[in-house]
Amino acid sequence: MNGKKLWSIGGGKGGIGKSIFTLGLGITLAQMGKKIILIDADLGGANLHTLMGVRYPPFTLEDFILKRVDRLEDIVIETQVEGIGLICGADDIMGAANPKFAQKIRLLNQLEDLPADLVFLDLGAGTSFNVLDFFNYSAGKIAVFTNQSTSLQNVYGFIKSALFRFLSREFSRDDEILLLLQQAGSRLAKLHSVEDILNHLQNKNVEKYARLKQIIDHFEIFLVVNMVKTELDRKAAQVIQKVSQDFLNLHPQIFGTLAYDPEVEKAVNQMLPFPTRSQNSPAALGLQHIAVQVLKEAKVSDLTTAPRLAATGAWG
Ligand SMILES: Nc1ncnc2c1ncn2[C@@H]1O[C@H](COP(=O)(O)OP(=O)(O)OP(=O)(O)O)[C@@H](O)[C@H]1O
Ligand SMILES: [Mg+2]
Repeated sequence: MNGKKLWSIGGGKGGIGKSIFTLGLGITLAQMGKKIILIDADLGGANLHTLMGVRYPPFTLEDFILKRVDRLEDIVIETQVEGIGLICGADDIMGAANPKFAQKIRLLNQLEDLPADLVFLDLGAGTSFNVLDFFNYSAGKIAVFTNQSTSLQNVYGFIKSALFRFLSREFSRDDEILLLLQQAGSRLAKLHSVEDILNHLQNKNVEKYARLKQIIDHFEIFLVVNMVKTELDRKAAQVIQKVSQDFLNLHPQIFGTLAYDPEVEKAVNQMLPFPTRSQNSPAALGLQHIAVQVLKEAKVSDLTTAPRLAATGAWG
């Protein structure tokens, strides 16, 4: 089994902590000696650099997308956190926020080769094809949400859209499956759930059934609940796990939860990357638990002593 080097963090809804979580996870892993690259893939709404205290990014993804530089590696900037390189997001000018297919492929092709132990993509809100394609391309898929009803609704929609987009690409030449997937999205459909589609195929075409089932079984998702204040909030993970199981035949793994933590807001207001200054705060402890899970999935040993990056000159 290959390890997972590339991870995406999505969740559908805006403002639920995708960027805070991406940054916090990156910092926690860097503090464990791993070499991390964070990418702000929120095209058009980039702000990861602000959370890292970088006011004026010297390079952004726009430079790569518009071919001012050839290699993605060349736009990684150093940050104040040892072990973390950052690729800043593109602004919504010059069309960089809506890369054409070829531009996106060029970007995706270089992600895995970046010089790091782990690469994290902070995705934008919503379920646009750009967002879903980044998510689906990553071996590690993390969905972040809160216990607010709107976030629960959006994260389920996000997971469903990602799965259906993935399946439509896998079966792009199979009109029968494409039609079934399309119909399953509509209210008047006879077949609603992925289970319905599988049952329908099992009786009709065993080969297609087996292929569809295998692809769905390999579509792994990891869940993180953010801004947890009560025990009930924590249970949001089980709610999403259950609906994903019942309607999508997915079995997402619960990675953990992050407490609602005033230290986060303080850090954001001071433009200090969380959790560099507050490693024992409740959210920081949650991040440490999740970081260990990520290392297990990534198959990067937490015992290795990956050299910490020098404070200067690491990525030039
Ligand atoms: N665990 C937490 N405890 C307290 N506040 C939090 C926590 N997580 C996030 N926040 C607050 O929520 C705000 C929004 O978080 P963040 O920018 O990470 O959301 P996002 O999902 O990336 O939003 P967008 O989709 O707009 O990029 C943060 O500025 C912070 O104030
Ligand atoms: Mg964000």
